[in-house]
This record gives sequence, C-alpha cells and structure tokens, in this order.
Amino acid sequence: MNVQTIMVIGAGQMGSGIAQVCAMANYKVYLHDLKEEYVQKGVSSVAAQLSRQVDKGRMTAEDRDGVLGRLHPSTSIQNAAEADLIIEAVVENMDVKTQVFKMLDEMAPEHAILASNTSSLPITEIAAVTKRPEKVIGMHFMNPVPVMKLVEIIRGLQTSDEVYETIESITKNIGKVPVEVQDFPGFISNRILMPMINEAIFALYEGVAEPEAIDEIMKLGMNHPMGPLTLADFIGLDTCLYIMETLQEGFGDDKYRPCPLLRKYVKAGWLGKKTGKGFYTYS
Ligand code: CAA
Ligand code: NAD
Repeated sequence: MNVQTIMVIGAGQMGSGIAQVCAMANYKVYLHDLKEEYVQKGVSSVAAQLSRQVDKGRMTAEDRDGVLGRLHPSTSIQNAAEADLIIEAVVENMDVKTQVFKMLDEMAPEHAILASNTSSLPITEIAAVTKRPEKVIGMHFMNPVPVMKLVEIIRGLQTSDEVYETIESITKNIGKVPVEVQDFPGFISNRILMPMINEAIFALYEGVAEPEAIDEIMKLGMNHPMGPLTLADFIGLDTCLYIMETLQEGFGDDKYRPCPLLRKYVKAGWLGKKTGKGFYTYS
C-alpha cells in the first residue's frame, strides 16, 4: 500500500517524536491535538530537536526547514480525510482511545490504516470499535522516539497480513527496527520493563534505599542507561500506573499490583519530568 500522508493524534512527548521521524522520512505529516497550544508545544519541541542537529553539524538548515515544512499543525479532525496512515498517541486510557478510534473510523478514507502507539492496551479491543479491524494495528514506539531504534508491532486478532507488511515497511523507512509481537497485555516491552520499575518503587516505598541509590545500583550494576526511577519520571508516572493497571487487570495476577506510592504521586499530580516533579524535581 502506498502511504504518503500520515496523521499523528496527540502532540505530547511521543506524538511529537513520531511526527518528527515521519517528516524526516519525507512523509507529509499532520500533528493533531485538542488545542492549538498543545500542537504548538509539540511543533516547538520538534523544531528545537532539529535545530540541535543543525548546531552539531549533522543536518543542514535547509533540511531542517524542509522537515518543518512537511509538518502541518492540526486541531481539526477533518484532516484525517487526507491521511493514508493515522498513528494515535493520546493518553493511555481505553475510553479515550476508543472514542478517538470511532471518530477516526468515520473520518478517514476507507483504505487508511489506523495504528495505536499504546504501551499496553489490547489492540483487538481498540479495533473492535471500528468497521475496519483488519486495518488496525499496534505501532509501539519507544521514548525518546528520535533516538530509540525499536518499534514493537502488535498484531490485533484481525489485523491483515497486508497491513502488517505495510507497517513493517514504513517502520524500516523511518529508520527503525520492527519487532513483531502478539496482542497480550503490555506486549513484550512493558510486560518486562514495567514490573521492574514498579518493584523499584516498592523498594523506595519500603525504605530499602533512597531514590538516588536505587538508580545508581541499576545504572552501575546492570549498565542501564537510566535508573528505574529516573526512567519512570521520564516515561510519565501516569503512563506507568496505567500500564501496571492494564497488566493487573489483563492477567488477574497480584504480582502486577501497582505500588501505592505510584498511585499517591499520580493523585498528587506528580507525573514526573513533564510536570516538573516525580521521584525527582525538575526545573
Ligand atoms: N529527544 C530527542 N533526543 C534526545 C532526547 C530526547 N528527549 N534525549 C536525549 N536525546 C539525544 C541527545 O540529543 C543525544 O543525541 P546526540 O548524541 O546525537 O547528540 C543522545 O540522545 C544522547 O543524549 P545525552 O548524551 O544527553 O544523554 P544520554 O547518553 O544519557 O542518553 C537517553 C539519553 C538516550 C535518553 C538514554 O538515557 C537512554 O537510553 N535512556 C533509556 C531510555 C529508555 O529506556 N527508553 C524506553 C522507555 S520505555 C518506552 O518508551 C515504552 C513505553 O511504552 C513506556
Ligand atoms: P503525553 O501526556 O505527553 O501526551 C498525550 C497528548 O495527547 C497530550 O498532548 C493530550 O493533549 C493529547 N490528547 C489527549 N486526548 C486527546 C484526544 N482525544 N485527541 C487528540 N489529542 C489528545 O503522553 P505520551 O507520553 O506522549 O503518551 C502517549 C501515548 O504513547 C500513551 O498511549 C502512552 O502509553 C504511549 N507511550 C508512551 C511512552 C512514554 O515513554 N511516555 C512510550 C511509548 C508509548
């Protein structure tokens, strides 16, 4: 299938990164969010990232301007009518995602593929609210998108082979490595990563060590680039909590119980780096 125009729904940290890598690979991209200010924040972060590349001599100013020229801000869902592929990257909540997919199913052309960047939610359930479940697929990028190589590709129960192959080929086209997984809670990435992060939060909650010590141990002892609490702040504590809830509900096993400290921080609005406060404080 020939994909030329991509629409990204949600201009937060993931959506803006996804829009950036797609525009860098010469696709026309709409970056869509609920409000103009959210879209502008996303576009500004892409512009800043590209300008850093120019400053480091890795990209010319013309190329940066070309990428930004292919990136179209959107607050009108009508733009979906022009898209061949739509990648959803809104909050990790099934009700919000199914509402978005119902709307996209109405607006998008019949041939368009609807992909979700969900971290953990069932693709099959999202697909079921549309009239095109064979064209719904999981396209799970890693954070920060411009840096991380992996895209976990999740086949819903009814995802067609043709759609899978198209998404695999687009993933390679944007310089990423696709890895195929089946549709189970948390897929592979977050089924393994998030219980480790949750366990680090339990260790803090139980007073086993200070946050800096927990992170230092995992960085120096296991060669992780970031300690688990720094990584949780980086991902967003709301996202971490929603993923743990999906694992707990999906597998029905107490080993996935979110740490009460994680819940408390999210209730307080301490969502990590994006709100300036989580396990650490950010200026
Ligand atoms: N956006 C874009 N680029 C970024 C960036 C960001 N937010 N943060 C860092 N970078 C780039 C820097 O510009 C730099 O690039 P150059 O070398 O080309 O200049 C490069 O990344 C390295 O950055 P730094 O030297 O500043 O810092 P670092 O060496 O510590 O690397 C990191 C930063 C790549 C983020 C590294 O700490 C890392 O790999 N951390 C772990 C990230 C990780 O585990 N991601 C997966 C999270 S889980 C997930 O995404 C799935 C989910 O569903 C929750
Ligand atoms: P974020 O909070 O940074 O951004 C979410 C954006 O979606 C916000 O700008 C919000 O205004 C927008 N939004 C919410 N409802 C919307 C709607 N109905 N229509 C249009 N826009 C809407 O979140 P994020 O970290 O970018 O995460 C987005 C998705 O990506 C989640 O499903 C998350 O699980 C997944 N994800 C996150 C990470 C991570 O490390 N943060 C990694 C991989 C996948």
